[in-house]
Amino acid sequence: MFGFGKAKALVGLDIGSSAVKAVELKAAGKGFKVAAFGTESVPPDSIVDGAIIDGAAVTEAIRKLFTNKAFQTKDVAASLSGNAVIVKKINLPVMTEAELGESIYWEAEQYIPFDIQDVNLDYQILDPGTGPDSKGAMDVLLVAAKKEKVADYTGVITQAGRTPVVVDVDAFALQNAYEANYGLEPEMVVVLLNAGASAININILTGDQSTFTRDVSIGGNAYTEAVQKELNLPFDSAEQLKRGQSVEGVTFEDVQPVLRFMHALQEHFGTAVEMFDPFKKVAFDPQRLGITDAESVSPAAVVAVGLALRRAGDR
Ligand SMILES: Nc1ncnc2c1ncn2[C@@H]1O[C@H](COP(=O)(O)OP(=O)(O)OP(=O)(O)O)[C@@H](O)[C@H]1O
Ligand SMILES: [Mg+2]
Repeated sequence: MFGFGKAKALVGLDIGSSAVKAVELKAAGKGFKVAAFGTESVPPDSIVDGAIIDGAAVTEAIRKLFTNKAFQTKDVAASLSGNAVIVKKINLPVMTEAELGESIYWEAEQYIPFDIQDVNLDYQILDPGTGPDSKGAMDVLLVAAKKEKVADYTGVITQAGRTPVVVDVDAFALQNAYEANYGLEPEMVVVLLNAGASAININILTGDQSTFTRDVSIGGNAYTEAVQKELNLPFDSAEQLKRGQSVEGVTFEDVQPVLRFMHALQEHFGTAVEMFDPFKKVAFDPQRLGITDAESVSPAAVVAVGLALRRAGDR
């Protein structure tokens, strides 16, 4: 959302609280293929509630992530989530783009609970209000991010020797990755969920429009903690079990009743739930990239893939 320059391919860098993930794409046929890929774990509590607490640790993880990999560019698209970002659909009287550009700060003030001086603002016209049933009003998607947060994220990227070019929002990167891999059908309602270690990004699409976004501060860590409590294990063993690896005397089957994530969603909503595959259409050759655990890294690569699709100056 917040672009700072020139238009060429970028590395999608997802800075998560449990791991940093990076993806570089190359055009291939009508679509894309993964040209470089990396993931590196982040020490616990370095990022808490989306805030970078230990900048040195995060910088080090990013530096390691890019070491000895095939990434061609230093230019990076990163993203923010959580309470540092506000996404709101607002209704305004019909005006030209130039008029909107002039009045947006003033209009936005009432929707943003922070001082307008402290945020970076971006917007997109969703409906210009020129259609037959628009009643003289236009729909604008307003995105605001705390300058302080943007600076923290761009800071660790710069410290790690990379150039931050775009700062996006997790929920929108999720949407980009979905569009590139699944396409969009008019009128179809799709709920996108990205469950990380400490948060879940939600984006509900109707056709090609996002109708609801929200970040919820609960994620995979809560599952690990449930396994830990239920079976009286240390965090690391519980984490291993959750990922399907057995530990001293406990098998993955033993933890199944505690987990049930996809099943629970399916039962609760009475609708089909599918695992998001960021490499459904985007070509990914793990062997060529030296990746041995493709099945476990793929689901975590969704945001990075969405970010890698961005170009500087995009809206
Ligand atoms: N095979 C698996 N089964 C279940 N959970 C898994 C598996 N592999 C990874 N996870 C969980 O996914 C989470 C990590 O996902 P991801 O890398 O998307 O998080 P993150 O981006 O670092 O976190 P956040 O965005 O919340 O800061 C961890 O909680 C991890 O335990
Ligand atoms: Mg994440």
